[in-house]
Parts: sequence; structure tokens; C-alpha cells
Amino acid sequence: LRRRAGRLDGSRGIKMATSASSHLSKVVKQKYMELPQGEKVQAMYIWVDGTGEGLRCKTRTLDSEPKSIEDLPEWNFDGSSTYQSEGSNSDMYLIPSAMFRDPFRKDPNKLVLCEVLKYNRKPAETNHRHTCKKVMSMVEDQCPWFGMEQEYTILATDGHPFGWPSNGFPGPQGPYYCGVGADKAYGRDVVEAHYRSCLYAGVMICGTNAEVMPAQWEFQIGPCEGINMGDHLWVARFILHRVCEDFGVVASFDPKPIPGNWNGAGCHTNVSTKEMRDDGGLSYIEECIERLGKRHDYHIRAYDPKGGLDNARRLTGHHETSNIHEFSAGVANRGASIRIPRAVGQDKKGYFEDRRPSANCDPYAVTEALIRTCLLSEEGEEPVEY
Ligand SMILES: Nc1ncnc2c1ncn2[C@@H]1O[C@H](COP(=O)(O)OP(=O)(O)OP(=O)(O)O)[C@@H](O)[C@H]1O
Ligand SMILES: *[C@@H]1O[C@H](CO)[C@@H](O)[C@H](O)[C@H]1NC(C)=O
Repeated sequence: LRRRAGRLDGSRGIKMATSASSHLSKVVKQKYMELPQGEKVQAMYIWVDGTGEGLRCKTRTLDSEPKSIEDLPEWNFDGSSTYQSEGSNSDMYLIPSAMFRDPFRKDPNKLVLCEVLKYNRKPAETNHRHTCKKVMSMVEDQCPWFGMEQEYTILATDGHPFGWPSNGFPGPQGPYYCGVGADKAYGRDVVEAHYRSCLYAGVMICGTNAEVMPAQWEFQIGPCEGINMGDHLWVARFILHRVCEDFGVVASFDPKPIPGNWNGAGCHTNVSTKEMRDDGGLSYIEECIERLGKRHDYHIRAYDPKGGLDNARRLTGHHETSNIHEFSAGVANRGASIRIPRAVGQDKKGYFEDRRPSANCDPYAVTEALIRTCLLSEEGEEPVEY
């Protein structure tokens, strides 16, 4: 199996580096997963660690099936092992925030996305859900909808893109976007398993496709209202990591995994409000874009976990991106910061697309920044405290 798995490039029989644990028999495991679990329920708690992009998880047993988030107990973990606190006072709180069906252990087991609070019950530095939720509740009556297009790259465990020749490059970009065939689609098993798992979990996944660079893929989450956008995207990412683990490969959200003449990875974000979706909504979209144009740097800082440094490798002005130093907007323009879809320009209503967020962005930080600038009319370099 191991030898065969490497034959994706068709010609050279390259050995792929997949993890040792992926070679443990999944068929044998299935025998145990079919054992009845009695009345007990397994709840896997998931949280964002101190890097702002890594995910952590652990499981506890519940005595009965939780019906809503209120039925889930708070929990804790050691923040000194997740880059979230120093040695003393390292206990962090896990506050259940959103619950999904668990596609790995199946019903009645749950995935539980959590907010992280410090020992003093203040939000941890990378807990961007806390302020996002507050800001979303201020604009609830405008029903803000988001859709996010998550691009990612499948890597072998040695960090090399999955299916690429081990000491070279595949043929240049061109045939891979939405491609089909063993020489064009690298790792579709992962994509299929992830898609179905998201549907099972109740994640609002609305599509998927192969991307421009081989081994690069995209899935779309949306439309989601308010805080749900961040919740659903984080859980979709968790599910992707977990599926990749089974296959022995790694999902990377790095915005420029391969330097040079290869496409980077972003997280284009569609945005609308009730007014924008109604007749004549285009004028509200144009107002938003004007505000966004005056606050470009603030948004760039919010659009990756390193305050813009990650995105600087991606937003070069080439490969269907805008330049990180300039704000631009246009109808159907893939090289602009903000794109108005052609159909929206024609119908004079709908939504706009912010193409700047990096693939490893925190969707809470992105959607919060958009609401602050577009709907709360904030200006300047710092967010307003409410
Ligand atoms: N974030 C969003 N906010 C509001 N409406 C959205 C959002 N995302 C999608 N929509 C709405 O959902 C509809 C379907 O979206 P989708 O993008 O799949 O279709 P589309 O406009 O045909 O795009 P394309 O032609 O590029 O495939 C859109 O017409 C749009 O009105
Ligand atoms: C965002 O809008 C684009 C069209 O501009 C569409 O192709 C895409 O499917 C939308 N994605 C989401 C997640 O809403």
C-alpha cells in the first residue's frame, strides 16, 4: 500500500511520506467503533490554541445526550502546554460555545467548540470569539451574512505537497483548477471524506473544488449569519485536520506554502446585510467599500494571525491577488482587494467579496473587523471599545 500510494504523478513511482499511525488498520478499528456505548456520550471539546491558528481537542464522557449548549459543562486545560499561559495560574477555562454532531464517533456523540478564558475568566489573547460575538449582537437587526472560501494545501508529513515529485515540481499551473483525473487531482479522498463529514456534523458547507496549484483545494462555508460564520469555519477546519490524520497527510492553511510561481491560499469572504440584499442594495455596498478603503491597514492586521506578516507573502499583486499596500475595488476583478460579483453589479443588490483574508485567518477577527468598519462606521487604526 505504501509503495503504491506514491504513484500519483503517474511516471516515477515516488514514495509518499504518510504518517505511521495512518497505517494502523482502520478496518480493525471499525470493529471497536461498532461496540455499543450504553447511555454514555462522548463529547470532544475543541479550542483554538495560543498560536491563533492551531486547534486542540480532548474528550470527556457525559451521562446523557446534551440537547443544547446549556447542557454542556465547563471544563479546563493546562494553558502552559498550548502557548496560552506561563507556568503559574496556567489553568484555562473551556466554555462550550457551539455544538455539532461528531462524524467520527457518530451519534449521539458531539463536537463542542469552546471559547477559552484565562484563570481570571477574562478571554485568552487568541479568543477572538468573545469580542466578535459582542459586535455581532450590536448589528443583529441588520442580519449580516457571510460566506467564506477556505483554501488549503494537502502536504505529506515531510512538509512536501501531497503527490508532488519528491525532488522536483509537477507541471506548471493550468490543468489543476477544478481538474479531474489522477494526473490533475491530488488527494480527492481527503476532500470527499471532509465534505461528507461536514454535512453529517451540521456544518454549513456549500461547496468544494480543486484549486489552481496541484494539491491545493477549497471548500466554501456559508451563508452564515453573525457569529455562526466563525463557529462553522473553525469546526470545518477541525474536521479537515482530523480527516487528514486518518489518511496520514497534513492540511496546511499557510497563505503561501510554496514560494515562487505558485498560487497562494486565501479565505475570500462574502458579506451582505439585509439592506444590501434588498432592491437597490448596491448603494449600501458602495458605502461599505468606501469605509473599507479608509481603513485598509487595520483590516490587513486583522486578516492573518501575525498582524499582516503572513499575508505579505501572498498579497503580491500577482496570482489573482491584490497588492498588500494598496486598497482597490472593482466589479468582477480578481486582482482587487474587494470584488463586486458581476451579477451583483447587474442586479444592483447582493453582496461583496473581501479577497484579502489569509487562508490561516481567524474568521472571528475577519468578520468582526468587517462589521466594525462597515456597519459601526469605525475609523482609525484601533477598534472602539463598547
Ligand atoms: N455572504 C453572502 N451574503 C449574502 N448573500 C450571499 C452570500 N453568499 C452568497 N449569497 C447569495 O447566495 C446566492 C448563491 O451564491 P453563489 O455564490 O453560490 O452563486 P453565484 O452568485 O451564482 O456565484 P458564481 O456565479 O460566482 O458561482 C448568491 O446569488 C447570493 O445572492
Ligand atoms: C462568494 O461569492 C462568489 C461569487 O462572487 C461565489 O462564487 C462563492 O460561491 C461565494 N462563496 C460563499 C462561501 O458564499
